[in-house]
Amino acid sequence: MSSNTAAPPCPAHVPAELVREFNLNDTPGISDDPYAVMSKVGHDAPRIFWSTTHHAGKQPGSWWLTRSADIRYVLQKPLLFSSKETAAFSLLLGESWDLVPLEQDAPRHTAVRNWLNPIFSHLRIRPMESGIRQTCVRLVETFANDGGCEFVGAFGRPFPITVVLQLLGLPYEHVDMFLKWEDQLLHSHDFGVMAEAARKIKDYLLAAIELRRKTPTDDLFSQAIRAEIKGVPLSADEILGFCYLLFVGGLDTVASSLAFHFKHLAEHPDLQKQLRANPEIIPKAVEELLRRYAIVTTHRRATQDTELAGIQIKSGDWITICTPMSAMDEHEYKDPEIVDFTRTVRSHVTFAFGPHICLGMHLARREMAIALEEWIARVPVFRLKPGSRPKLHAGGVFGVDELQLVWD
Ligand code: HEM
Repeated sequence: MSSNTAAPPCPAHVPAELVREFNLNDTPGISDDPYAVMSKVGHDAPRIFWSTTHHAGKQPGSWWLTRSADIRYVLQKPLLFSSKETAAFSLLLGESWDLVPLEQDAPRHTAVRNWLNPIFSHLRIRPMESGIRQTCVRLVETFANDGGCEFVGAFGRPFPITVVLQLLGLPYEHVDMFLKWEDQLLHSHDFGVMAEAARKIKDYLLAAIELRRKTPTDDLFSQAIRAEIKGVPLSADEILGFCYLLFVGGLDTVASSLAFHFKHLAEHPDLQKQLRANPEIIPKAVEELLRRYAIVTTHRRATQDTELAGIQIKSGDWITICTPMSAMDEHEYKDPEIVDFTRTVRSHVTFAFGPHICLGMHLARREMAIALEEWIARVPVFRLKPGSRPKLHAGGVFGVDELQLVWD
């Protein structure tokens, strides 16, 4: 990251000494170890700085926060910091529908979450567990006796994606197409490619919604079509925005997290031994791995002039909420890069915080715990394949493209 006083135009109220050239795509070293880069930025940069690049490419830039406490503050103040257009996929198409509930603000957001929270509660997830476990075991048994696997392709992706596609009622046969669209939408630097992917996803989802209007099922898309809030059905745009968010947000977040967690365990056999000796610590271990490997970067926009992290920002300014930065904050966590299952962690922001806290967090946690339980029950101590190098990417959702594991 470099200080950039001669940067592209940035708003007059931004102090020159707080301007930096930084983004999550092409900063040197970011694909080798995105968390090391986050750690260095958190260590070297001011508590708040202005980056001249912005996710949607249309804004002059955005504020970045390096401290977890400031990130929590923003996430907890939805009246001061709006979620409107945070992902802005519809803008790519010249349209204006919101991702639901992600891009909604109160009071509509509150009403929609009141409808959704019970659907994603612990109680509703529990009956799904035996099906999730069966999917997990079936996959692990395909390679457990092979002495190794490429984790992402063999397990990391198919496991959570099977689960989420079942929830959405979408066919697994189309998974390669879905992942290609998602990759283009989230990771391309070319707005034409992003817009094309956004259009394909929208057309596919509209057709899926139409099908369920004619022939209702039990999946989440059908539930959105049937839903009523205070006696009024969701609008067509809200149904699309809800299906779109689950499709994009649910598809690879668990996959990315799992791959980072298994990479870490492969590099630390001592941690695997702890899990094997005491499987009852798995839920706590999942929490610590989640804390260490936050993956999502999101955005908020100031609704009024206000003070943030000790400086004055203006109404309309964008704020980048980089949860991996929070995970690496040494003011929040002692030795943040160390995974310590005995750590007494303050709650982390991997699933965000405040009213927009991840709707799928209970499901995600259970999937990750089940994955660890079934792996350690079936696969001996695993490690990185000698000579191999995990392929990682940064961007809006950090992830792993390839992870070669071996075991005896
Ligand atoms: C480890 C996996 C996951 C991580 C790290 C994660 C992370 C996040 C984060 C950080 C947010 C807040 C974004 C913001 O406020 O701008 C969020 C929101 C959301 N997540 Fe997740 N997520 C995960 C899994 C899932 C799954 C499996 C689903 C659905 C099946 C899901 C559905 C959602 C939805 C619907 C929201 C919007 C909530 C709202 O705006 O009220 N997530 N997630």
